[in-house]
Amino acid sequence: MKKIKVKEGIKLEIEDIHLSFGEVRVLDGISVSVGDELLSVIGTNGSGKSSLLNCVNGFYHPQEGEIYFEGRDITRRPPYKIAELGIGRTFQAIQLYRDMSVLGNLLVGRPRRGKYLD
Ligand SMILES: Nc1ncnc2c1ncn2[C@@H]1O[C@H](COP(=O)(O)OP(=O)(O)OP(=O)(O)O)[C@@H](O)[C@H]1O
Ligand SMILES: [Mg+2]
Repeated sequence: MKKIKVKEGIKLEIEDIHLSFGEVRVLDGISVSVGDELLSVIGTNGSGKSSLLNCVNGFYHPQEGEIYFEGRDITRRPPYKIAELGIGRTFQAIQLYRDMSVLGNLLVGRPRRGKYLD
C-alpha cells in the first residue's frame, strides 16, 4: 500500500534516509522538512549534499527511509516521474547547449510543466 503523509505547510518531507555506496556511508539518517521557504544545504566537500539532492530527484535511491512530496511517496520513483511532479534541479557540473541562448538553456527544463514562456 502507498503511504500518504501530509503535514500542514510541509511540501517536501525527507524521513530518516540512509544511503551507502559499499562501505561508504554517505547519508546516515537524514531528515528534513521543507515548507514554502528557501533552504540551503551546506557542508564540506564530500559530505553528501549532492547525494541528498540526488535522492530527492530519484537519481539515487536510499536503502532506508522515505521521501514525500506533497503527500506522495517519491522514494523509489524514477527521475522523469519526479520531474513531472514539478521538482526541478540544476547540476553541479553544468552542460550547456552552446548554440542556444541563456534563456533557451533555462527553458529546456520547463516542458514537463507544460509552461513555456511566449
Ligand atoms: N555514485 C557514487 N558512487 C560511489 N560513491 C559516491 C557516489 N556518489 C557520491 N559518492 C560518494 O559520496 C560522498 C558524498 O559525495 P557528494 O557528491 O554527495 O558530496 P557533496 O557534499 O556534494 O560534495 P561537494 O561539496 O564536493 O560537491 C563522497 O564520498 C562521494 O565519493
Ligand atoms: Mg556536490
